[in-house]
Amino acid sequence: LTHHALNGKHFIVTAGGTKEAIDPVRYITNYSSGKMGYSLAQALVENGATVTLISTVDDLKLPFGVKYIAVSSAEEMRNAVELAFDQSDGLIMAAAVADYRPENVAQQKIKKQTHDPMTMTLIQNPDIVAMMGAKKAKQIVVAFAAETQDLLKNAKAKLLKKNADMLIANDVTAVDAGFGVDTNRVTILQKDGDSISLPVMSKIEVARQIVEHMIINMTKE
Ligand code: PMT
Repeated sequence: LTHHALNGKHFIVTAGGTKEAIDPVRYITNYSSGKMGYSLAQALVENGATVTLISTVDDLKLPFGVKYIAVSSAEEMRNAVELAFDQSDGLIMAAAVADYRPENVAQQKIKKQTHDPMTMTLIQNPDIVAMMGAKKAKQIVVAFAAETQDLLKNAKAKLLKKNADMLIANDVTAVDAGFGVDTNRVTILQKDGDSISLPVMSKIEVARQIVEHMIINMTKE
């Protein structure tokens, strides 16, 4: 592998948790900090790629040369990914995308009314990585799976369902892995069934390992 194995290649990376509006002052989200996605953007740049980072968080240091696109909701993220996808050589979906969003976004702040419990109807968001997996041509598509049980079984099912080339499984119950922390513990699953379990390491080291495996996959084809 040469240091600039990805010269001339363009990748899309997503980062952060999506924010699904309830009303003008409230939203639903999750604990994603964006660290995994930013680390992947950096590891790609280190290998000579150009990177478009589509992110819900902007409080991390943007790696030099990365094009940044700010988004908030899953639908905004879908639109931004879709716009960039055809001109790209690959997509890494490290963002934690909300599976559901409120069906109706209230135009005014919702008031507390009675003592009754309140209910809210949620509808499904588009599955961004599955959409891109279904339409990919030359692109390599890398999905993540954040699981709290049956890690490898659920991860394998997601790899197939989303038609991804690689899937990065993280057990988000471990204190040194997953959301927020600077380290991660992942298993890299390949389309052909191979899998590699990595020990706990910093997110930038995890990102470099993922990118190395992407490069191997891309030179195989
Ligand atoms: O941001 P950090 O604090 O550094 O934490 C990193 C992380 C835990 C968020 C990251 O490593 C991770 O696991 N990201 C994926 C989280 C997630 O949404 O997992 P999932 O199993 O729910 O989704 C599976 C895959 O489908 C993911 O690639 C996800 O981006 C994608 N997806 C999910 C739902 C949806 N509507 N559209 C999608 O594209």
